[in-house]
Amino acid sequence: MTTNNYKRFSGKLAIVTGTSSGIGLACARRLAEEGAMIAGIDIKEGDWQQVKALSPDSRFYKLDVSDGSAVKKTFEQVIVDYGRADILLTAAGISKAGPLHMLEEADWNDTIDVNLKGTYLCIKAVLPTMMKQHSGSIVTIASIEGLNGTECGSAYNASKGGVVILTKNLAMDYGRMGIRTNSICPGFIETPLLEQAIGQLPAFKDDIIRETKVGRLGKPEEIAAAASFLASDDASYVNGHSLVVDGGYSAGHSHGIVELMGLS
Ligand SMILES: NC(=O)c1ccc[n+]([C@@H]2O[C@H](COP(=O)([O-])OP(=O)(O)OC[C@H]3O[C@@H](n4cnc5c(N)ncnc54)[C@H](O)[C@@H]3O)[C@@H](O)[C@H]2O)c1
Repeated sequence: MTTNNYKRFSGKLAIVTGTSSGIGLACARRLAEEGAMIAGIDIKEGDWQQVKALSPDSRFYKLDVSDGSAVKKTFEQVIVDYGRADILLTAAGISKAGPLHMLEEADWNDTIDVNLKGTYLCIKAVLPTMMKQHSGSIVTIASIEGLNGTECGSAYNASKGGVVILTKNLAMDYGRMGIRTNSICPGFIETPLLEQAIGQLPAFKDDIIRETKVGRLGKPEEIAAAASFLASDDASYVNGHSLVVDGGYSAGHSHGIVELMGLS
């Protein structure tokens, strides 16, 4: 739930990919709570009904974001249905990684296709409408793993690094047309995707929590709070930014001195 009664997005349409689970779902819920209609996009319906319950004028569009012609058709349908596109938030993503010499070409292709090409395709499909409106806010969900290396991150990290720099370039190209583009770089957030990546590795999870300076994993709602800020006019002068939301994970390395000094 939101901690305020802002209706910053009343009458606005937010297109949210990856809307059926985890971070995309939390973002769609938050934008809906703040008054937006949601065009929810995902390859499966999942928990989408939670969004519809908050914002009855919202609609779900089943789509594989890596399929170019399907993306074009779906976005055209969204514009026919709503006649506008105020916000695009791209959260559809998958996590396939591993040491590069063991990574199958098919896994590399899937990861780049969904995470990076899917982001490109959706943004390309929404830009003509935003350019016509001379307004729009695009928020891409990247990752701290797109800013710094993580062991065996390979394809996933490459895809997210691509999203970070693509976002900055869009900010340069379309800012003068009233379209702001920013990315969020989440740390380790409790979602099915994280569970799939580290669920079998309790020692890895403990280490992540130890390195996260607030001492816990993040919640999807904490990413949604940042996303709704970037999507809103409250961020009217924020463009081309990569906002790290990671509980301090990437602030620096821990060596146990804090515990030694009794600060935990
Ligand atoms: N959970 C984390 O720790 C974390 C950290 C950094 C970044 N992220 C990023 O956040 C985004 C959301 O991830 P999440 O953790 O909420 O995972 P999630 O698995 O809960 O949600 C991902 C959603 O994307 C959808 N999706 C997958 N492939 C798709 C496709 N081809 N077309 C359309 N939809 C598709 C899934 O059906 C699912 O609903 C991803 O881009 C992920 O890389 C997650």
